[in-house]
Amino acid sequence: MDSKKITEIIDKMSVEEKASFCSGENFWFLKKNEKFGIPQVMVSDGPHGLRKQESKADHLGIEKSVAAVCFPAGCLSAASFDPEITEMLGDSLGQECQHFDVATILGPSVNIKRSPLGGRNFEYYSEDPLVASKMATGFIKGVQRHHVGTSIKHFLANNQETRRMTSSSNIDERTLRELYLSAFEGAIKKAKPWTVMSSYNRVNGEYVGDSKHFLTDILRKEWGFDGMVMSDWGGVNDRVKSLKAGLDLEMPGTGEETTQQIIAAVENGSLSNKELDQAVKRILTFIFKYVDQHNSKDPLDLEHDHRVAQTVAEESIILLKNADQVLPLNSTQKVALIGEYAVTPRYQGGGSSHINSFKVVSAVAAAEKMGLDFDYAAGFNDQDQSEGEKLLQQAVAVAKKSQVAVVFAGLPDSFESEGYDRTKMQLPEYQNKLITAVAEVQPNTIVILHNGSPVEMPWINEVKGVIETYLGGQAVGQAVVNILTGKVNPSGKLAETFPVHLEDNPSYLFYGGQGDQVDYREGVFVGYRYYTSKKQPVLFPFGHGLSYTSFAYSNLILDQEQIDDTDRLTVNVDITNTGKVAGKEVVELYVASEKGKIIRPVIELKAFQKILLQPGETQTVSFELDKKAFAYWETKLHDWHVETGKYTIKIGSSVNDIRLEKQVKVLTTTRIPVEYNLNSTMGDILADPVAGPKLQAMMQQSAPTDVKQDDPDAAVSQEMMVAMVQSMPLRQLLSFVPGVTLTQLNQMLTVLNQK
Ligand code: BGC
Repeated sequence: MDSKKITEIIDKMSVEEKASFCSGENFWFLKKNEKFGIPQVMVSDGPHGLRKQESKADHLGIEKSVAAVCFPAGCLSAASFDPEITEMLGDSLGQECQHFDVATILGPSVNIKRSPLGGRNFEYYSEDPLVASKMATGFIKGVQRHHVGTSIKHFLANNQETRRMTSSSNIDERTLRELYLSAFEGAIKKAKPWTVMSSYNRVNGEYVGDSKHFLTDILRKEWGFDGMVMSDWGGVNDRVKSLKAGLDLEMPGTGEETTQQIIAAVENGSLSNKELDQAVKRILTFIFKYVDQHNSKDPLDLEHDHRVAQTVAEESIILLKNADQVLPLNSTQKVALIGEYAVTPRYQGGGSSHINSFKVVSAVAAAEKMGLDFDYAAGFNDQDQSEGEKLLQQAVAVAKKSQVAVVFAGLPDSFESEGYDRTKMQLPEYQNKLITAVAEVQPNTIVILHNGSPVEMPWINEVKGVIETYLGGQAVGQAVVNILTGKVNPSGKLAETFPVHLEDNPSYLFYGGQGDQVDYREGVFVGYRYYTSKKQPVLFPFGHGLSYTSFAYSNLILDQEQIDDTDRLTVNVDITNTGKVAGKEVVELYVASEKGKIIRPVIELKAFQKILLQPGETQTVSFELDKKAFAYWETKLHDWHVETGKYTIKIGSSVNDIRLEKQVKVLTTTRIPVEYNLNSTMGDILADPVAGPKLQAMMQQSAPTDVKQDDPDAAVSQEMMVAMVQSMPLRQLLSFVPGVTLTQLNQMLTVLNQK
């Protein structure tokens, strides 16, 4: 239905009818109105599978939903470092939504992982906004291809579960822009999700749902978002304020209460008809966008989608350690599969994203099907530890008589979920004990991890191999066995850092906050931005992931040595597969700025690309960088800004494994407006390309003539003098330069401030 027709409907609606449309009918459905021919549509969770509830509804994942496919959670699919993979996932998901008459899937979830403790980290993609937004872009494109909407969530700064409905994420403007907003910005601009879900929390004191600044000024006016904003479930603080701020639809339905508030606000003039009409228009546009194209149902092919889930897992699972090339397994080896997750994998998280998987493939089932020579021992029981010692001894015995032991460890369901945060970064003690005990008797021990967020690995030096599957979706067992046996060559890379200890994490001292106040004191130093700047050793760095082949990097070429910040820079690099099997490599491009005036991370990811190479094959990977690759958010301009200076383009296989680098000089084309006064430092003025030379000239004129230039006996050398002068305010010239008067200084300022 076109915009004109929708406006005609709105013109015919009463205030009561319009107000009523601004909240859902019930848990999953929007309102309908037969008189105006407005049908009823439904939304469902998300994000890594369809959770369509047909009878009883809830948003905590308690009641059952239709049987569907559980794809790998965001924590794993992000590790593919390949937006085509999240697009493939989205494509299947969109098709399932079409089939089940779901107008919008509630995802993707793109919040930045600020701490490994985030209870919902498993749903989120990364600690890096570029990775998060690129993965979300793929997901949105894939789903929306089927004329089904997405709801990118949770906008904004919902980075913890503790008190998520009342806490205030207190974040400075630059950090918000460079990290927390940025994760949404790229995806919203590029993939145009039909809807955005506002988060429960406040930012800097104000509920996001009440914030005109975020929901209208930034989201719509700056980024050009033209879809509908809906609240998180029960996440409306003040219905009228939120409507004015740009929150169109309240979910779920709350009965008549908020409808009456809207009507009263129109009557007393605090809400204009125009504001109400605008929200209703966005809601109706959303409904008809879906309905108009929902002519035929996509066929449901769950087996096909299961294979997609498997491919996504295979493209994303990360080989963290592979000492002595213990992997891939050799087909004649007798294998011990240990740990109950080998039979019942932990493959998804708890809460609103919980999927009713139509089937689950375990590693044991996959190994049986592939005819591997293996024995199984449960090793532990998450629910009941009374038999712990016995299970451990059985596992040790099985490990001893095998040639290789594969221990399936991970976090039990209760350790991480929506609604609360983790309290520690360790695996359960009984699992750590099991791994150590197995490794003591079996030199070829490999650990397979099932967890939504990083864990400490006290046994890392005792085992030869570690494979991170995160929460790998319902096909994880097959994917793991394919990687173990080398049928699939692993190519996932970590989209977040694994610190050695929780205490190493930059948000450690402040995470969770004090009462409702959560201060993001680490600022822009989140994840690897902190670890690299601080030279903090980590367990596994951001971007890390091994392969069964090896890659050589050569011929890094920048097309220019110097550019203006309005220019583009083309970067080419050759990657060669130097091993014996085909493999995929994620080529990561980081930018490092030389130390300027701005405090910034020493290195930041600015581009990446995954490529497939046959043995011996070389491919040239080409990146194009624009201003954003060199810029930081300048609060004086309220805009991105590039400091003139040298920048190093670093190409690597992880943030700590840089293979090639080259410098480019970037010149700014924007001047930050500045008004000098008597307290401006000489250093700042001298560094200013316009005012600096003027000051220098004026100083030379008034410099005392009897000072010897390079007196070796002087207490203060010229070099020391220059350093001292840097931090000296202009007014100090009164005390240090004989004869200088206040009138002269004020005249100087007039000259310096001339535009
Ligand atoms: C979650 C959302 C979810 C909604 C509906 C909320 O509690 O935060 O992510 O989409 O419930 O289940």
